[in-house]
Amino acid sequence: MSKPVVLITGVNGEIGRSLLKRLTQQDRYRVVSLDLSPLPESYRELTHEAYSGNIMDRYLLDQIAAHHEIKVVFHLAALLSTRGERDPELAHQVNVEGTLNLLRMSQNQSSRLGESVRFLFPSSIAVYGIPDLDTKKNVGRISEENWNLPITMYGCNKLYCEHLGRYFTNYSRQLGALASATRMDFRAIRFPGLISAETIPTGGTSDFGPEMIHAAAQGQPYKCFVGPDARIPFMTMPDATDALIQLLEADRDQLSQAVYNVSGFSASAEEIAGMVRKHFPNADLSYELDPVRSKIVDSWPEDVDDSLARNDWGFSPKYDFQRSFDQYLIPTIRSLYSKRQLA
Ligand code: SER
Repeated sequence: MSKPVVLITGVNGEIGRSLLKRLTQQDRYRVVSLDLSPLPESYRELTHEAYSGNIMDRYLLDQIAAHHEIKVVFHLAALLSTRGERDPELAHQVNVEGTLNLLRMSQNQSSRLGESVRFLFPSSIAVYGIPDLDTKKNVGRISEENWNLPITMYGCNKLYCEHLGRYFTNYSRQLGALASATRMDFRAIRFPGLISAETIPTGGTSDFGPEMIHAAAQGQPYKCFVGPDARIPFMTMPDATDALIQLLEADRDQLSQAVYNVSGFSASAEEIAGMVRKHFPNADLSYELDPVRSKIVDSWPEDVDDSLARNDWGFSPKYDFQRSFDQYLIPTIRSLYSKRQLA
């Protein structure tokens, strides 16, 4: 039997590259990918077909759907929170209209194949908005249904798209047009700040974590744009891609929700800096507050309650704070930059 086709949008981003490698190792899926920028050859060869193009191009999406029997969509393409504040209308177009295009394509594909296309969507802690630091401290770990009051365009977009996904999965039939169709199956994970040892994020507001580590590993000074006490949840990239695959493979009847929190560990900027200094004693780290970005981080929770993900589909991250550094980040980053120096 041929392997099911998985479409990854935004494959050239951090999660996309890591997910592509992980799916290739598993060898259970055939990956078709889409990104605005062409994939480097070393990643391209891991795909069955790599398209360059825009998720706003509905004609292109129809072409891709016509050529492949897509059973799974990982819709990763998005503008992150800092970038979104610089151009909110563009963020809305890409994050909402782009997602609607992919949802529509997946719905059509489900009808055509007579089988529910599984749609995996990375949502974010940015859907939460806590009004002030005292409240943030008091509420501590937050569960999915609380404080859904985002203060960024990106957070609004992600929250709305969660609702759109739930709508397509559960209610779109009420409009009549899809009465006899098989509906798509939407599943979302609200990711915390993600830290990869191999790539650096662009345009996010949790970027201070990964930027600090990568700067120190390259012997470069780093000015952190949030204060030492700024605290949010984080997670390593391998745990994030494992979570996406685990949620994909969960049986529908295991899932009590469409949207799940996940977390690896909660850390402040200074706790990350302390760990970085331990491993790179010459690290030159200082603080230079960006008020807009600080305010965004202050509105995000200190940590999230991910017990639903643990109970429903067995989410269980490998890396806590200590292990993330000792077993994943530091060894992988050291080998990455020493290889680059040699190259
Ligand atoms: N990493 C994202 C950002 O900083 C949050 O999900 O925008």
